[in-house]
Amino acid sequence: MMRGLLVELYTAAFAVVGAAAASVTCRGQLPAIKLPVTTVASLTAVPSFLERAIRRPNGDLIATQLETGAQLWILKDSSTSAARLAPLHNFSESNGLLGIASVAPDTYIVTAQLFSGFLDPVPNTTVIWEIQFEGTESDAFSLRKAGDFPSAGLFNGMATMPEEPTIALIGDSFNGQVVRLDVVTGTHDVLLDIPELHASEGAAFPVGINGLQIHKGYLYWSNTARVAFYRIAIDSNGRLPSAAQVEALASIPSISGVDDFVFDARDNLWGLANLDNQAFVLYKGSDSRREYQTVQFVAGGLNSSEIPGPTAYAWGARNEGHLLYVTTSGGSKAPINGTYVEPAKVAAIDTTAFFKR
Ligand SMILES: *[C@@H]1O[C@H](CO)[C@@H](O)[C@H](O)[C@H]1NC(C)=O
Ligand SMILES: *[C@@H]1O[C@H](CO)[C@@H](O)[C@H](O)[C@H]1NC(C)=O
Ligand SMILES: *[C@@H]1O[C@H](CO)[C@@H](O)[C@H](O)[C@H]1NC(C)=O
Ligand SMILES: *[C@@H]1O[C@H](CO)[C@@H](O)[C@H](O)[C@H]1NC(C)=O
Repeated sequence: MMRGLLVELYTAAFAVVGAAAASVTCRGQLPAIKLPVTTVASLTAVPSFLERAIRRPNGDLIATQLETGAQLWILKDSSTSAARLAPLHNFSESNGLLGIASVAPDTYIVTAQLFSGFLDPVPNTTVIWEIQFEGTESDAFSLRKAGDFPSAGLFNGMATMPEEPTIALIGDSFNGQVVRLDVVTGTHDVLLDIPELHASEGAAFPVGINGLQIHKGYLYWSNTARVAFYRIAIDSNGRLPSAAQVEALASIPSISGVDDFVFDARDNLWGLANLDNQAFVLYKGSDSRREYQTVQFVAGGLNSSEIPGPTAYAWGARNEGHLLYVTTSGGSKAPINGTYVEPAKVAAIDTTAFFKR
């Protein structure tokens, strides 16, 4: 039934090509607003590509680099003019990093991969590492391999279960799967393999599931090729309740792809249009049958260099909870105006005005 709904949404979209506002197959689109965006810190190389980020309890942000080296960066002093991205670790057997998630206090897992080209992984080179910091104020850490994944396609978004954080769920963009990993034992299995996780047939950019979040009893994901969001009920141990049914939330055909996302304290979903350099919000809304079906673009813009090629979000630390940090690829995959590319960076969206309305 949900597949039918999605087809219907797409059909509706194609029927109104040329009418920008109406082409949003979410039920509604609010007029765009422009939240202020500042650049916090940049890398130096062009091209470069930051992929995901997670915040340490001490407020520092750890960011993963997808291309030209499996480099982990740490954003220091982010709320001061001395903000900088410092190298934290280079995984020498890989040349790209993807998802990162927290499995215990100040302990993280990160996916490392060897690629032969952009999003062209070498088979049997997917590794998940565990990084355990030695103290809250220390950048020293120990490393442990949490698993090898010989049959992985492209591991992308990754999240851990809030109540059992040593259970991780990983979205495989190429195999169209969600993989469940027990980080303690290293055992893993395919939790879900359904069309809504796969790229659409014949997609030019065959990335299916991309971002993945666990929020209030549901597993949510974005599907890049389908430009759509979905969810399914999940139990606290990362297993599907027997009656779980996938729900298609919204598809947004006015943009060319969706990347990672986060929720805010009001359960709104903040998404990123990677190739359109834009941030948007899908509103939770008050009608339970129409959750996440109204979209509003809130930052960046097709021709704007505020967040070129935005990839993922991380909320600010406690004293800057109004800031939503964004990692970027500098527009390296879709130059702005066809020409402008900059080094990957971490920017911050000031969401104060959004919540004051
Ligand atoms: C990480 O290692 C790769 C390969 O050895 C190298 O090309 C890259 O420059 C290194 N990154 C940094 C930031 O040193
Ligand atoms: C993956 O690589 C390991 C060693 O690097 C090897 O033992 C294993 O047989 C390989 N698996 C597959 C499916 O190729
Ligand atoms: C792209 O072009 C528009 C005008 O067409 C201009 O306003 C904008 O600044 C340009 N963006 C960049 C990043 O150069
Ligand atoms: C972006 O710039 C192009 C020309 O480079 C122009 O055709 C288009 O209208 C601009 N779009 C926006 C949203 O500013």
